[in-house]
Amino acid sequence: MGSPQDHAYHLLNEYANGFMVSQVLFASCELGVFDVLAEAREALDAAAVVARLGTSSRGTQLLLDTCASLKLLKVEVRGGKVFYQNTELSSTYLARGSPTSQRNMLLYMARTTYRCWGHLAEAVREGKNQYLQAFGVPSEELFSAIYRSEAERLRFMRGLQEVWSVAGRRVLAAFDLSQFPVICDLGGDFFQDPLPEADLYILARVLHDWTDERCSQLLQRIQRTCRPGGGLLVVESLLAEDGRGPVTTQLYSLNMLVQTEGQERTPAQYRTLLASAGFHGFQVKKTGAIYDAILARN
Ligand SMILES: C[S@@+](CC[C@H](N)C(=O)[O-])C[C@H]1O[C@@H](n2cnc3c(N)ncnc32)[C@H](O)[C@@H]1O
Repeated sequence: MGSPQDHAYHLLNEYANGFMVSQVLFASCELGVFDVLAEAREALDAAAVVARLGTSSRGTQLLLDTCASLKLLKVEVRGGKVFYQNTELSSTYLARGSPTSQRNMLLYMARTTYRCWGHLAEAVREGKNQYLQAFGVPSEELFSAIYRSEAERLRFMRGLQEVWSVAGRRVLAAFDLSQFPVICDLGGDFFQDPLPEADLYILARVLHDWTDERCSQLLQRIQRTCRPGGGLLVVESLLAEDGRGPVTTQLYSLNMLVQTEGQERTPAQYRTLLASAGFHGFQVKKTGAIYDAILARN
């Protein structure tokens, strides 16, 4: 163990180099490293990976060994030769064919989120998202900035789906929803279109995109359509009541700053929004995972 100064310097370097770790992950997904290793069904040496990916020997060797140190790959030495294989993490979450693959979400983060984060200081200065600075796309109409091409829209949608392949079960098990025969998961243009009739509405990762004012408009629309005794399930990553933690949710909140008009909120902030739209019987379930659930009644 080193001195407290050593520890502080170590922590500083870990934070400063964090983006390099993200890029190793993103580039490996982009190039298909985890896919060729999953398809090979046996450990491959660097030359075999190079041949399959059509990449440089030098770059591939460095990337594979770094992945191994980050526990994204396993290394086996046989007859003085090094062979690489996916770890459980990469075969479960990174290989394209896995039912819980997060590949599209990582590609979306690499190509969109990361670029908006490159303008975090400007976002903090201006208090608004950075699509214009990152992509030259005006952000006045958030929908067209977020879905600025069909390929982008599809990647984002697939990525959102991938997150639910891992996190969905826990969120939906948070409350007994069997009392609600017809459930409507709201998406699309819910600010304009008539809302379908349902016993329970779900707003998952929607309110965090919007200002309090826009959230209130949407919640009032839902409250007017929802039958008395009906419910609204809000799925979001909840901040601690003092707003200072968990750090992942705070980072998501900054992500809402660089990418949307919203922020992550505390349970009390959601309660205020829901109550002022006419909902009551507010219940919060922290799932222990990234996303939590709030059930309110009309
Ligand atoms: C972050 S996605 C969440 C999707 C889904 N509920 C989930 O959790 O995977 C935000 C949703 O808001 C909808 N939406 C409605 N109006 C929007 C707007 N003006 N800009 C962006 N998204 C909008 C999108 O269609 C999309 O379904």
